[in-house]
Amino acid sequence: MGLRESFQAGLARQLGHPSGLRGRVVGAMLNRRNRAAVVKAVAALELSGTETALDIGFGGGLGLELLLRDAAAVHGVDISQTMLARARGGFGKEIVAGRLQLHEGSMTALPLGDNAVEAIVSTNTIYFVDDLGAAFSEVARVLAPGGRFVLGIADPDLMGRSKMLTDNGFRIRPVDEVETALSTAGLPVTRHETFGHSGLGFHLLIAEP
Ligand SMILES: C[S@@+](CC[C@H](N)C(=O)[O-])C[C@H]1O[C@@H](n2cnc3c(N)ncnc32)[C@H](O)[C@@H]1O
Repeated sequence: MGLRESFQAGLARQLGHPSGLRGRVVGAMLNRRNRAAVVKAVAALELSGTETALDIGFGGGLGLELLLRDAAAVHGVDISQTMLARARGGFGKEIVAGRLQLHEGSMTALPLGDNAVEAIVSTNTIYFVDDLGAAFSEVARVLAPGGRFVLGIADPDLMGRSKMLTDNGFRIRPVDEVETALSTAGLPVTRHETFGHSGLGFHLLIAEP
């Protein structure tokens, strides 16, 4: 493997599971690069101020910061200990105040009870999830009746043109396939918004079961 390929493989690994010092740098980069997408995804939840919200795969933590502005209480779930440590450092006050709870765990086995939250956001995560059915069933389980789920994904056609992504195990799925998986899990998509983001098209799939 050449130097360039090896750098790209390392970056791709970090995007899926940021770890160590490099992971911390990647966390800051994610907040910058994905800002527009995360801002729009959280806005699409249309939080009322009284709800409990969850960010799955919060990475650099921008989604947590935005949810904390508009939700009464917030949960964050991520598989990365480095991202959890970063968020613990950045949101100490909110954790002490009991407004933010952070959990190590996977989208396919969420460490939360049934009907635990009214609003869930997850952006740029399902590329790292093999079993989409298991993940969306878990989202449906923890989402309270009348709740909303906003899933943000980069356009698969554009992602498919990036050798870095295709060579390094990113699961790039057609949007239709993702919508069908959501619907099968009891999360029918009621709105589908698209916009430009970092030179890529971006999709927000909003499910209101
Ligand atoms: C590319 S980052 C996206 C971060 C943030 N949501 C954003 O859009 O900037 C992917 C994040 O999802 C987390 N992740 C990957 N697989 C996951 C899984 N199965 N369950 C929960 N989090 C996961 C990674 O640790 C990482 O923090």
